[in-house]
Amino acid sequence: MTTEDLSTKAQQQAAAAPSRRTVLCTAGLAGAGVMALGACGAAQDAANSAASSASDAATGALKDAVSKATIPEGGGKVFPDQKVVVTQPTAGEFKAFTAVCTHQGCVVSDVANGTINCGCHGSKFDITTGAVKAGPAKEPLPEKKVTVGTDGITVS
Ligand code: FES
Repeated sequence: MTTEDLSTKAQQQAAAAPSRRTVLCTAGLAGAGVMALGACGAAQDAANSAASSASDAATGALKDAVSKATIPEGGGKVFPDQKVVVTQPTAGEFKAFTAVCTHQGCVVSDVANGTINCGCHGSKFDITTGAVKAGPAKEPLPEKKVTVGTDGITVS
């Protein structure tokens, strides 16, 4: 195990507590409706929004085929409305991930320099695996299923 492995493990453990709080508060909001929004404060409003985005992303898909030519080789493209990011790590190899950052739920902003980048707090994710390359995010971007057909790329 390397120093980097130990650091990553420590970061993952540190992330566990805020995630549980977010889930608990969000679960309360879901049960109590909009009137309870103030109960968790502004920070939790953001967390609630993030959780909502994460929920949307769970069903995020790219049903209308996009041309392979729109996905740069060694890079990728964010589809914010669909909350999906499609990458092409190497020529002809396409990957897709949720575009919802695992830190606090922002939609990632772009793909550049070999990483999927979140503009909210600077997290970076690997374009091949979705793994965290730079925090504060602790968890990778969940991968989506890519289908490359004659009319282009779809994601489910
Ligand atoms: Fe993406 Fe914080 S929400 S880095």
